[in-house]
Amino acid sequence: MAGMISAFLRLDDFMAITILVGGQWGDEGKGRIIDLLAERSKYVVRYQGGSNAGHEVHIGSDVYVLHLIPSGILHSGKVCVIGNGVVVDPVALVGEISELRKRGISVTSDNMAVSDTAHMVMPYHKILDELREIRKGKLKIGTTKRGIGPAYADKVSRTGIRLQELLRPAVFREKLRMRLAENNAVLRSYGAKPLPFEATCEELLRAGRFLKPFICDSVMLLHQAVAQKRDILFEGAQGTLLDIDYGTYPYVTSSHPTSGGACVGSGIPPNRIDRVVGVVKAYTTRVGEGPFPTEHDGALGEKMQRIGDEFGRTTGRGRRCGWFDAVVTRFSRMINGIDELAVTKLDVLDDMPELKICVGYRVGPKLYESVPSDLEALKRCRPVYQTYPGWRTSTKHIRKFEDLPKNARLYLEAISRHTGAPLSIISVGPRRDDTIYVKS
Ligand code: IMP
Repeated sequence: MAGMISAFLRLDDFMAITILVGGQWGDEGKGRIIDLLAERSKYVVRYQGGSNAGHEVHIGSDVYVLHLIPSGILHSGKVCVIGNGVVVDPVALVGEISELRKRGISVTSDNMAVSDTAHMVMPYHKILDELREIRKGKLKIGTTKRGIGPAYADKVSRTGIRLQELLRPAVFREKLRMRLAENNAVLRSYGAKPLPFEATCEELLRAGRFLKPFICDSVMLLHQAVAQKRDILFEGAQGTLLDIDYGTYPYVTSSHPTSGGACVGSGIPPNRIDRVVGVVKAYTTRVGEGPFPTEHDGALGEKMQRIGDEFGRTTGRGRRCGWFDAVVTRFSRMINGIDELAVTKLDVLDDMPELKICVGYRVGPKLYESVPSDLEALKRCRPVYQTYPGWRTSTKHIRKFEDLPKNARLYLEAISRHTGAPLSIISVGPRRDDTIYVKS
């Protein structure tokens, strides 16, 4: 075990420039860990995705679900940045800011900024997302219907509209007119109603007037922060296996939730990054379609779903559940360069008589120790498990690694060993202080 459990970690150890990524299929409990790390960083930055994310943070008895705004907003004195790699639904962002303000959270241009080069999720993107899913039938991806895929597609096709355009109404009207003509034709081809120009334009310009104080050159803002040696935390959304390149394509999201995405989505170069923290759940979940080798669709999966409250915070869908997949997290460690692992929701497993960790996949006679790049092989693979005894006692109140039941420690050490990354944080409940910082 030497070297697998890191030396005693305090929050200070995470500072400098840190990227936090999801090591599975999203929903790893990143919001929970970001909230802890944000306490000591000055800047918290989203770099990809959009309002498909749903980062949940519990503070006392209050629960906050953040879709676009970085979770750092729940701490005072932070600067939250929505980077250029994010696709922003301006109307949703206005709604999120207003909702936070209603709940007494200050959101001003002093503590929040959004990149002027971030592309917008337009109303037609959301409708098309839904229509395309319906048309795909059995082959649907199970998207969140937040318009993410169509918005990134327009960005890459160079037909997107960026937030800066909202600040120049005349330019915006012209671009929208062109884009709406084309997209309305597509909507009609699906048998859907076209969008009215004036009402659509006015709704977006209204959002633009609201967002004007927040819209800025985020690349310069972040480089100033780097020059001033500020601590920066990059907040990944979704997870590695949902990455457009490294995930289970086409059952993925349309951005790069991996650590490389943080550089492209913010303008901070790779040689400025100090560490990468991977977040994994103590078991595995997935929402939406696509292969999931350790999935349990029977009683065990239902039990995990119930105890872990595994329902999507953006769509309310039940998450598919199964055993911890070390093949997936090994792959994530490799792709992201994960230095430390944060393991969340250990307490959900408190009642299990025994636990399994998937350490390889078998497809016919072939044994895979890494995620096969061939989707058809991945669909057919059978997990190879190692079994661990359960601990059958509550871990919720525990705050020190050495106070965990022996079997829980063995299980965590196995996760660390099979993934190849030291553990730094374990969460045993939803609240801020339900946390164990790992000692060797
Ligand atoms: P999209 O990002 O809405 O296009 O959805 C593509 C896939 O990513 C679907 O399987 C979604 O369920 C999944 N997905 C998107 N965002 C999240 C998230 O925040 N957590 C978990 N899964 C997500």
